[in-house]
Amino acid sequence: MLLVTGGAGFIGSNFVLSTLAATGEAIVNLDKLTYAGHLRNLHALRADARHVFVRGDICDRGLVGELLAKHKPRAVVHFAAESHVDRSISGPAAFVQTNVVGTFSLLEEARAFYEKSSSSDKQKFRFLHVSTDEVYGSLGPDDPAFTEETPFAPNSPYAASKASSDHLVRAYHHTYGLPTVTTNCSNNYGPHQFPEKLIPLMIRQALAGQPLPVYGDGRNVRDWLYVADHCDAIRVVLERGRIGETYNVGGNAEMANIDLVRLLCSLIDKSVPGRRSAELITFVKDRPGHDRRYAMDIGKIRRELGWAPRESFASGLEKTVRWYLENIETHFARPEAA
Ligand SMILES: NC(=O)c1ccc[n+]([C@@H]2O[C@H](COP(=O)([O-])OP(=O)(O)OC[C@H]3O[C@@H](n4cnc5c(N)ncnc54)[C@H](O)[C@@H]3O)[C@@H](O)[C@H]2O)c1
Repeated sequence: MLLVTGGAGFIGSNFVLSTLAATGEAIVNLDKLTYAGHLRNLHALRADARHVFVRGDICDRGLVGELLAKHKPRAVVHFAAESHVDRSISGPAAFVQTNVVGTFSLLEEARAFYEKSSSSDKQKFRFLHVSTDEVYGSLGPDDPAFTEETPFAPNSPYAASKASSDHLVRAYHHTYGLPTVTTNCSNNYGPHQFPEKLIPLMIRQALAGQPLPVYGDGRNVRDWLYVADHCDAIRVVLERGRIGETYNVGGNAEMANIDLVRLLCSLIDKSVPGRRSAELITFVKDRPGHDRRYAMDIGKIRRELGWAPRESFASGLEKTVRWYLENIETHFARPEAA
């Protein structure tokens, strides 16, 4: 079985649902249920004995140690994090606590568990750390995409906390021989994303006839990865990734924020007749230190592990808009969705 952290959040819940559907492997899901996590994301599993949900903090070493001893997972898949850049600017402490101290706590407990395991269990064990392209900093318009060799240059407290956790994971492999693998992915989109992030925020605002706030001149470029493709990549890295390595995961879909928002408006207007959503676009004061461009070179995971994204941006975005339209009542009605 797998021990997943943060499996009630956006990517974690997509991973838990798709892994159970694809492989049937049991999952212990440790999640603190912060504002970003919600059991509604896992509603489909409420009567599924293969999914064991535990509400708790990754910083609670006693609890993590107990879960490892009791369930003896063959891998830890670590999603739990504070993940929103804007919140890291207004309150960085929680990011250091969960992303740095929390990852350290997990690594310590995983190391103790690993060291006590039999040699055949040791061979199978993996600690997979899910990280971000933001650790690499920002690109100019014509710079080549980030590779796994790009030096770290984090610019926000969020990115710095994730970079710190990546370094700890690396050190636990090099120092203690813990069999780690790290994935650094670009911006994910798809079902179950908390509506503070660009795509669900714009959909929610447009449907409510409210302003669509776009930072600065809207020309910041991101690479977009459909969450189901990301979950497949994680399973591939878990099965075939080389121990101690990092793998970039991206969607080959670079787009400026303003172009993305316009595309979303046209998809919403097609589904909800009578709308003119683009008229709601409002440019707002830029985020401090806003990275200009991220782009991912995914040659390594493609060459070594045979993974490539399957979803095109056009089809993924259409599916995503449809999902939010179909789940508008339950998803956007969450009381914490401020
Ligand atoms: N969403 C993206 O586009 C993106 C891009 C690159 C990397 N990532 C990384 O992927 C991972 C998942 O991102 P997401 O978008 O699903 O995040 P999310 O914010 O939607 O979910 C995070 C989950 O972690 C849980 N959590 C937070 N602190 C915890 C703690 N101390 N103990 C236990 N659980 C805790 C939350 O309750 C929530 O369920 C993160 O590590 C993030 O840095 C995300």
